[in-house]
Amino acid sequence: MNPICDLYSIEYPLIMGAVSALPGLGIAVSEAGGLGTIAAAGATPDQLRERIRAFRAATNRPFAVNFPIALMPPDQLEAKVALCIEERVEAVITSAGSPRVATARLKAAGIRVAHVVATTSHAEKAAEAGVDAVIAEPVESGGYRGNDEVSMMVLIPSIRRALPGMPLVAAGAVADGHGIAAVFALGADGIQLGTRLIATVESELPAHYQKLILAANDTATASAEGRIRPRVAKPEFAEAVLGEVKRIQMGQVAALITDVAPAAEVIRRMFQESAEVAARTSNALGVFAPAVRA
Ligand SMILES: Cc1cc2nc3c(=O)[nH]c(=O)nc-3n(C[C@H](O)[C@H](O)[C@H](O)COP(=O)(O)O)c2cc1C
Repeated sequence: MNPICDLYSIEYPLIMGAVSALPGLGIAVSEAGGLGTIAAAGATPDQLRERIRAFRAATNRPFAVNFPIALMPPDQLEAKVALCIEERVEAVITSAGSPRVATARLKAAGIRVAHVVATTSHAEKAAEAGVDAVIAEPVESGGYRGNDEVSMMVLIPSIRRALPGMPLVAAGAVADGHGIAAVFALGADGIQLGTRLIATVESELPAHYQKLILAANDTATASAEGRIRPRVAKPEFAEAVLGEVKRIQMGQVAALITDVAPAAEVIRRMFQESAEVAARTSNALGVFAPAVRA
C-alpha cells in the first residue's frame, strides 16, 4: 500500500535520521512502527556489532544502519559493511558520498539499501547504482547537503519527475502532520526525521540539544561551512541559549518543535494530524476543481 512500508515491513512510512549512535532511540522508533536507525560513523566495528545485537535483543522489528561515507575512513567503512552483511542487518542507509561505493555488495547480500541525496542528479546516480529507495535531503534539513541548497518544495517534485517509480523519502523540515501532508503532496512516499526525534524522551544526545531545539525560532540555524555542510545552530544563538558556543547539528524545523514527548506519541500524533490536514486541504482545494465549479 505504501512503498516505504512495503520495502521495510514497517507500519508508518517513517525512517529515523542517523541522530544516535546508541540503539535506544532506534529501538523506540522501531517498536512504534517506524524504522529505527543506528548511526555507524563514530563507532568501532566491535561497538557497532554490540549495538546491532543489543537492538536485536530488544525488538524483532527491522532497523537500519547509517553510513555517512565521506565521514568514514575507507578501511572502517569496509569493515562495517562486512559486519552488516555478517550480522544480516535488514537495511543500510548511505549518505554523504557515492552510492556506488557499497550498494552492489550490500544488495547482493539481500540488504535493502537507500541513499541520501540533495539534488536530482545525485538521485539519478543512486538509481543507476541500484538503490531500493532515495532519501531526499533539502536545504532546510539537519543533514549533509554539500554546496547545493535545493528547497524541499523543488527537490521532491523534481526527483519524482525524474524517477517516477522510485520509493522516495523526504528527509527534514518535517515535525508535524502539516509537514507530512505537504511532502506527500509534493510526491514523497515517506519521511525521515532527525531533529523532531532528538526532542523525545528516548533521545540519547546530550541535554543541550533539546534545550537548543526548544529555544529555536526560524532564524536560529544556518548551513555550516566546509565540505558536507550540515545545518547547525548559529553560534550566536547557541551562545545566547547555552552560555557558550557549541556546534550543534539541527534542522530549520526546530522552530516548530515545542515539546519533548515519547517517540511513539510523537509518531502517532504526527500521522493522525497529517490525515486531518490532508482532509482539510482536500476540502479547501476541492471547490476549485473544474468538475465542481461546472
Ligand atoms: C545531530 C544530527 C546528526 C546527524 N548525523 C547523521 C549521520 O551520521 N548520517 C546521516 O546520513 N545523516 C545524519 N543526520 C541527518 C539526519 O539523518 C536527517 O536526514 C536529518 O536530520 C533530517 O532533517 P531534520 O533534522 O530537519 O529532520 C544527522 C542529523 C542531526 C540533527
